Amino acid sequence: MKGLVRLLQCGMLLRSYAEAQVCNIVDPYALESTPVRESMRSKHMGVEITVKYLTFQDCFMSEKMRNFEQLTGAIMKKSPTTTATWYDDILQDVKKEEGFIDLYGTFGNWVPYFASLGGFRDISDDILNAVGEDWFDIMPAIRQGVASYKEKVYAVPLDGDVIYMLYRKDLVEDKGLPTPRSWDDVKQILDYYKKNKTYNDKGQPVYGNCFATAANDIADKIFWALASPFLQTGGKSQGVFFDTESMDPVSNSPEFLEALETIDFLVQHSTFNNQTSGEKKGQMWQETRAQFNNGQCVLYYNYPGPIKSMISAQEANGFSGKLNLAPLPGKKCREDERCPYASEDGVNYAPFLASGGMAYAVNSRKSQEKQEAALAFALYLSDPGASFWDVAHPSSFFDPLRLRHTTSLANNSTREAKAFLDFGWESRQLPMLKETTEMSFLNKNYVLDLRVLGSEKYQEAGTMPHLIKMWKGETSVGETAKIITDAWNGVTETFGLKQQRDFYRDYLGLPPYIDPNDGLEEARQRLQRLRRIILSVTIPIGVLAILLTIVVAKQRHTIKYHTRDVRNAPKAGTVAIIFTDIEDSTALWETNKHAMQKSLDIHNNVIRSLIDKYEAYEVKTVGDSFMIATDCPNKAVMLANDIQEMLISQDWPLELATMPSSCISYFPRPRRTNTVEPPRLMFKGLRVRIGVHMGQHQHDMSKAQDGEIQILHDKVSKGFDYYGPVVNTAARIEDAAFGGQTMISKEVYDAISEEVTSQSHVGIVGGLDLRGVTESVFVYSVLPLSLRGRKFHGVYRRKASSDSLTTVSMWTSRSSILTTDVMSLTPVELQKGMKQLQAQNVSLKEELQTLKMQLEGHISSLHDDDISFGEEEEPEIKVGVEKAKSNEQETTEDEPLLNGE
Ligand SMILES: *[C@@H]1O[C@H](CO)[C@@H](O)[C@H](O)[C@H]1NC(C)=O
Ligand SMILES: *[C@@H]1O[C@H](CO)[C@@H](O)[C@H](O)[C@H]1NC(C)=O
Ligand SMILES: *[C@@H]1O[C@H](CO)[C@@H](O)[C@H](O)[C@H]1NC(C)=O
Ligand SMILES: *[C@@H]1O[C@H](CO)[C@@H](O)[C@H](O)[C@H]1NC(C)=O
Repeated sequence: MKGLVRLLQCGMLLRSYAEAQVCNIVDPYALESTPVRESMRSKHMGVEITVKYLTFQDCFMSEKMRNFEQLTGAIMKKSPTTTATWYDDILQDVKKEEGFIDLYGTFGNWVPYFASLGGFRDISDDILNAVGEDWFDIMPAIRQGVASYKEKVYAVPLDGDVIYMLYRKDLVEDKGLPTPRSWDDVKQILDYYKKNKTYNDKGQPVYGNCFATAANDIADKIFWALASPFLQTGGKSQGVFFDTESMDPVSNSPEFLEALETIDFLVQHSTFNNQTSGEKKGQMWQETRAQFNNGQCVLYYNYPGPIKSMISAQEANGFSGKLNLAPLPGKKCREDERCPYASEDGVNYAPFLASGGMAYAVNSRKSQEKQEAALAFALYLSDPGASFWDVAHPSSFFDPLRLRHTTSLANNSTREAKAFLDFGWESRQLPMLKETTEMSFLNKNYVLDLRVLGSEKYQEAGTMPHLIKMWKGETSVGETAKIITDAWNGVTETFGLKQQRDFYRDYLGLPPYIDPNDGLEEARQRLQRLRRIILSVTIPIGVLAILLTIVVAKQRHTIKYHTRDVRNAPKAGTVAIIFTDIEDSTALWETNKHAMQKSLDIHNNVIRSLIDKYEAYEVKTVGDSFMIATDCPNKAVMLANDIQEMLISQDWPLELATMPSSCISYFPRPRRTNTVEPPRLMFKGLRVRIGVHMGQHQHDMSKAQDGEIQILHDKVSKGFDYYGPVVNTAARIEDAAFGGQTMISKEVYDAISEEVTSQSHVGIVGGLDLRGVTESVFVYSVLPLSLRGRKFHGVYRRKASSDSLTTVSMWTSRSSILTTDVMSLTPVELQKGMKQLQAQNVSLKEELQTLKMQLEGHISSLHDDDISFGEEEEPEIKVGVEKAKSNEQETTEDEPLLNGE
């Protein structure tokens, strides 16, 4: 008996449990051959795997498991769970030494926590190498919001959950009411049905909407989905729950009050008020679905899963020709508001990935054999060649997640479209499904659900009871906001603000928070102290400290992680590489950290917006340097020109103007004119050097020549990366440019069109001998016409021979992580290197403390100022306001182009 209880606690149920249910789902495509299926045929004979999934998927999963067993020979064991026990089931299992489950069905929201406990296998490599998986066909929001944690993939996503809206076309458009696009439109519809009493065919009153309002149901998710467009207008890194620095809950804001007022209005116009006897209580979604199907409501909101089932049943419910599907409404932007992602009609949508959606994760502690079989089953479910049928099935609870499932709905005869038609959809509804899916999953302003510890403590316990009180009229909107704020602060306190902030910033794609009062400042002071000792002791240790300083500086310069959208990454043929770097940034950081942080944001936004505009690919950023790739040299040059032009028109922090390498200067006024035109800007704000070079893709680098480039898929960043002589040369060309100057190789110059040259001012620089490049490289300088005549202190920047990068390469043999040039390290490698160096630094420090005591007398005679460290750029003359006007040697920028075209 005891044993049985234990088994049940583990969630294991006998096979016969499911088979006893009447289950008549038969997959008509089960025997069809697809690349994914062929890759696993008979590969897992006799391997037993236990799968955790939700009971309401049981019937559907039974069919899938049966077919998978036949295909692969694996033996499938079921471990269904209910929504109430699901989270704890997984948590208990993940915390065990080995665990009982082989494949966990999980919500995307929980992936970070379970992955951080070490229970989920990192499947980044598996998923990219899996035959036929076509990872990039999965919608980007789902790849990030459901499957990933810290840039690695931990689950195969099978579902993406946003809230959709289903409504009665016959009671909206057919009555002359507006298609509900914004909450304002919705209010108009609700008002109409409040004033104009309408009855269904059973004589029951029709309400404006049916709205799930019960605790421990989906009402919390619907609330956040409704609030999101009010709270997030600036893209997915903004987030809707906390201030990303202070971790203050957003419930403290006027936008939140607006959202609260809206939801209160919705509920007051819903069946919530049709509770005459006893105390009013929240309604579960199943209850409100029944009301909608019964013709008692005009509008309805739910996950795609239940909505699919309602559309499939439309004929039976007497709704033929009467149902429309739409994205959840957004917020109409006011005139004075910035809503860069708003649709053409000025509505800000912010699709909320509620709970993330269903995904399957492999238990990393099981035998290799079991892990392989478990992963195979997840990939089987995700098969791009067959999952379209699952997606359309009304009781699968799998929902659109692949681009191909959506694009193919444009044609009524594709099998994707046919599957929906077979399940009772009307063909006029397919374009609605396509639009709704695309609006929701391809929107750049999508909102990730809360992926911090105890998310349900915030969203459910810390929110729902207070909302219900408000709906009952017991508390006002303002009081409710205040109670929610207090509740949320309480939850943050229990888990620890720092840890919560780390999780929060991480999933928003923000760099780790650096408290200005600790960490680096302290490290810097420690280093300062160390410096004195180091130089007096031994040179190699000095070099190590330099490295640490460089790495710390690079770290501080904010390494940004982004969801990799690799559509624009060149994957073959011509590749043009662009490197950018900010002039004198180390000194700027030293002088004014705060202004520099602001400036860097401006700089990054400019460059990223142009990368988008030219459909180029951001390979990586190192420190404040960008590496960009595009398959079109014309775009590369236009992009560089636009960077120079746009930077000069930004609103830079005032402090920048006081620093020599970012001060303002003007073009001299033309002499023989009497106009009183204001002078034209020559420089303003950060000055960025840019280098562009190009080459052809060569797959096998052992045979590569100069001018060739290798394309690799980087497992860490999950993006494409580029290697080879072309990349090095591009970096060196950038290195030879002054801030504000763009230099391109002859290869690029020869490849660009006349249209591009006619919009640029091109000057010859000549053949340069660049470090690490065997042959001299012929280089041109390019500027947009508006900056023609911009002056630099020479034709190109001559750097003293012993710059910091050389020092790094010299030192490389000592430290394994730094076997390459710092510029080519990925952010993650850089971080690792820094940790390693910090560790070395600590042990050195201890060693040196001992030495210090021994050398006390000797050291006290040394001064900090005697020692210079190599991270500063070499004695290149700084451009000051006055100096810029003096008669130094000027460039050849204004001279005619010598080379024939
Ligand atoms: C009620 O319905 C009528 C006709 O359908 C419409 O003209 C009128 O504006 C509606 N009343 C309100 C308050 O919306
Ligand atoms: C509430 O709903 C019931 C059943 O749907 C209906 O019979 C009743 O008339 C409604 N009550 C009010 C006050 O609208
Ligand atoms: C699909 O069917 C609908 C309704 O019958 C029709 O309006 C539409 O033109 C069709 N689309 C295509 C691409 O055939
Ligand atoms: C629609 O799909 C069918 C079946 O895949 C295909 O034969 C046909 O060419 C497609 N039509 C269009 C207009 O794309």
